[in-house]
Amino acid sequence: MGYFRVRKSVLDGKVSISGAKNSALPILAASLLTNEDIIIDNVPDLLDVQTMLCILRESGRNVKFENAKVHISGEVVNSEISYELVRRMRASFNVLGPLSAVLGQAKVALPGGCAIGVRPVDFHIEGLKKLGFEIRIEHGEVFSKFIKKEKEVILSLPFPSVGATEHLMTTAAILDGVTVIENAAMEPEILDLQDFLNKMGAKVKGAGTSKIVIEGVSKLKGVNHRVIPDRIEAGTYAIAIAASGGKGYIENVIPEHLDALWEVLKDTGTKIEINENRVYIDGSNEKNSTKVNVLPYPGFPTDLQPQIMVYLSISKGTSTITENVFKNRFLHVDELVRMGANIYITNGTAIIKGVKKLSGAKVEGTDLRASAALIIAGLVADGVTEVYNDQHVLRGYEKIVEKIKGLNGNIEHLG
Ligand code: EPZ
Repeated sequence: MGYFRVRKSVLDGKVSISGAKNSALPILAASLLTNEDIIIDNVPDLLDVQTMLCILRESGRNVKFENAKVHISGEVVNSEISYELVRRMRASFNVLGPLSAVLGQAKVALPGGCAIGVRPVDFHIEGLKKLGFEIRIEHGEVFSKFIKKEKEVILSLPFPSVGATEHLMTTAAILDGVTVIENAAMEPEILDLQDFLNKMGAKVKGAGTSKIVIEGVSKLKGVNHRVIPDRIEAGTYAIAIAASGGKGYIENVIPEHLDALWEVLKDTGTKIEINENRVYIDGSNEKNSTKVNVLPYPGFPTDLQPQIMVYLSISKGTSTITENVFKNRFLHVDELVRMGANIYITNGTAIIKGVKKLSGAKVEGTDLRASAALIIAGLVADGVTEVYNDQHVLRGYEKIVEKIKGLNGNIEHLG
């Protein structure tokens, strides 16, 4: 396993944002709903995307991936996905519904937990049962068999789960009758998935609101689709530029996808200029403290919580971050404290007392966004920081070394 060696840098210049990992993954899962050819463009070359492509190949589809374009052809014939692939990435679980809808039955390993907490899939399973699937769980695997769907099904999600919304909306697209998902997640990636499904001939409406209505159709066709830009990658670089006291442009982004972040950055003294598909960040002012409430979209995204924590750890005064999506998503705190941050956690809220500076250290990356936050901390800290467990970052940040170097950042990927 490799690591990133990072030194204090004042970022400036520009960075171009790649396609959204969390949009590409559900769209690739939905590509199982047809045997016709599909081309998906603006797909980031990441470990998680490669895992999903392996799953599509295991299902029988031929898959080519070059220059950000995925070409999918051939027939879906295999209904069993190996544990090894699901173990690597929990989003793999979202192929269970589409596979069992097109083949009549499927078997996928039950995903485990991860560093950001227990990651249950009970909303997915309860929803599939209401859609007419018989579900059996044994030996850590989920068997799903399609029996019969009622003409009208209403699925009320206990929490606006992104994955459950995507999984159930995708599966319902080719099941006869009407399906209504209430308390649906409203993330931009769900709107992108709806666009993809409707291009295939599905009849889905309401994505981006808390109520999605799907009218099942019997057959879906092949399409071309371009994935939206990655708002979390964009937010990560915006925070990095601001935290480093630098100035720079984030390009190929949809600014309105990050309104909650722009508000926090502006409230704390960072200047933001929004143009059509690029945003200028000027973090040269001293930062003030604020309160951040992490919520489902359009609230402040949990996937930027570790990163904004680094920015607030060197802001004047005391800030708080309340995590309302993944209660225990604080494994990065201990590592930041080792770098001189003054942070403690009480009842799902981080209390952050701003310090003048951070000091470089050897630190452990525990998950994708925590590792990105530690790299930002290394750009801010005096001295050298080494962020271990590089595989986490490689799962979600395409060409991160080139992009940070392109912003005048001092980073190497070693080991
Ligand atoms: C998606 O995960 C994202 N992953 C996550 O990004 C993101 O953090 C999360 O949504 C929230 O925005 C992808 O899109 C591939 P959830 P997901 O279902 O779908 C609970 C990253 O860094 N829950 O919205 O797994 C769950 O425990 C990753 O790119 C249940 O209880 O998240 C959590 O507390 C990390 N039962 C809350 O709902 C269920 O069946 C929200 O989870 C499902 C979820």
